[in-house]
Amino acid sequence: MKVLVKRQHTFQEFEVPREPSQTVLDVVTYIQRELDPTLAYRYACRVGMCGSCAMEVNGVPRWTCRTHVDRVAEKETLTIGPLRNLPVVRDLVTDMREFFDKWARAKGAFAGRRSRRDDFETVSPESKRRRQADAGIECIGCAVCYAACDTVTWNPAYLGPAALNRAWTLVSDVREDRNAERLLAVSGEDGCHACHTHVSCTELCPKGISPTAGIAGLKRALFKA
Ligand code: SF4
Ligand code: SF4
Ligand code: FES
Repeated sequence: MKVLVKRQHTFQEFEVPREPSQTVLDVVTYIQRELDPTLAYRYACRVGMCGSCAMEVNGVPRWTCRTHVDRVAEKETLTIGPLRNLPVVRDLVTDMREFFDKWARAKGAFAGRRSRRDDFETVSPESKRRRQADAGIECIGCAVCYAACDTVTWNPAYLGPAALNRAWTLVSDVREDRNAERLLAVSGEDGCHACHTHVSCTELCPKGISPTAGIAGLKRALFKA
């Protein structure tokens, strides 16, 4: 199989043997271990939990450890590059700082009302707010949605789907104490109103999360506030 990998200013071509159940991460690992040890890429868990292995595969952002070559190869060819919308450190490695800085800007840290001396707060799994929060809570911070979002490309200050999804899970959490502050943080031209509902984030999120739905929820919550 022919594999084109983005290096500094160009694509470098490699020939990689096909294997059964081969993932795109297996392909990149083969290249780094067998063909060119200078290739830089990032991964940790290999089982879809850490969110660190995302890359662009044939122009589409994907988690590479759970993406099978059979599903994405076009004419026995793969083109692999770093995620869009993020600065490149080297080869396939992006600098994730601005992505996570935006989680902080969207007040993505939980701040509950109770102290460690209080009893646990009981939240029914069947309640509407709990189900809303649960729908977005499994985010692994892979930035696939962020790379898929044209609004981030057009306006690099836009908070983006992952940070806004995180804000929505907290706005939906009945134990949260700082939602007035959080809603203010996600308003304005770089916040949820900048989303044009293109839905690319939702189509590509490997965890089946819909940041688009969360962003719509934030818009409704802001309207009510
Ligand atoms: S729905 Fe909104 S956040 Fe998601 S990709 Fe489109 S513009 Fe970006
Ligand atoms: S919302 Fe989905 S695509 Fe976006 S960072 Fe979280 S897991 Fe990845
Ligand atoms: S290596 Fe952890 S999600 Fe792919």
